Amino acid sequence: MRLSITILKDYDSVSREGADVVAGVIAANPAARIVAAMGDTPQGLYGELARRSDAGELDASGLFVYQLDEYAGVGPEDPRSLAGWLVRSFMRPLRIPPENLVLLPRDADSAAYATYDRSIAEAGGYDLVILGIGPNGHIGFNEPPADGSAPTRAVALSPASIASSARYWGSADQVPRRAITVGIAGLLKARKMLLLACGSHKNEIVRRALLGPVTAEVPASYLQEADEVTVLLDRAAWNGS
Ligand code: PGA
Repeated sequence: MRLSITILKDYDSVSREGADVVAGVIAANPAARIVAAMGDTPQGLYGELARRSDAGELDASGLFVYQLDEYAGVGPEDPRSLAGWLVRSFMRPLRIPPENLVLLPRDADSAAYATYDRSIAEAGGYDLVILGIGPNGHIGFNEPPADGSAPTRAVALSPASIASSARYWGSADQVPRRAITVGIAGLLKARKMLLLACGSHKNEIVRRALLGPVTAEVPASYLQEADEVTVLLDRAAWNGS
């Protein structure tokens, strides 16, 4: 287990340093299997990767991209589809062909989610998981309580997650109430995890997740049990101001 925490000056520095980590994974394996979170925090990192790709400094086009989470009952044409956001902000700018996207099962039963988890394990697991952290300590939509054995599954979104996702879609009314998420168990098997957090509003939860006890009440605290975790924070997320 190796947990490294780096505190950087600001959001742009976190995005650049995060892009260095992803570029390192691509250099070692151009066909790496990557889980790329949506949400606001990693967008600067994805923009930086796109800039490097446009400048010919990086070729990400061989990556296989796996969904971290998706709203239940939201089709691919819906503007709120997290797969759509992933294509717009990550795959298309990096020229990753659509057939390299692996979608989560939708509207499935628990046997189908278990089959999905098995298929990922049989393919060799994820090489890199890029994560943000929710104000309630969720990673993906692993809402508390969720422990290290949580499988891929459908979940009800917590009021905290609905409130914090309202900014993506205009209002809380627009946020779907249920979602599908890769489980913590599958995420923890990844070769490498990259967690990004910025802003003073993340300070309390970042400290609980990284420095507090490992507990289902803070799903991100299970990162303390992962093989290799790189945490990149801006000063506000670490200091609270
Ligand atoms: P954010 O979301 O990056 O938009 O803050 C993080 C999350 O809820 O996982």
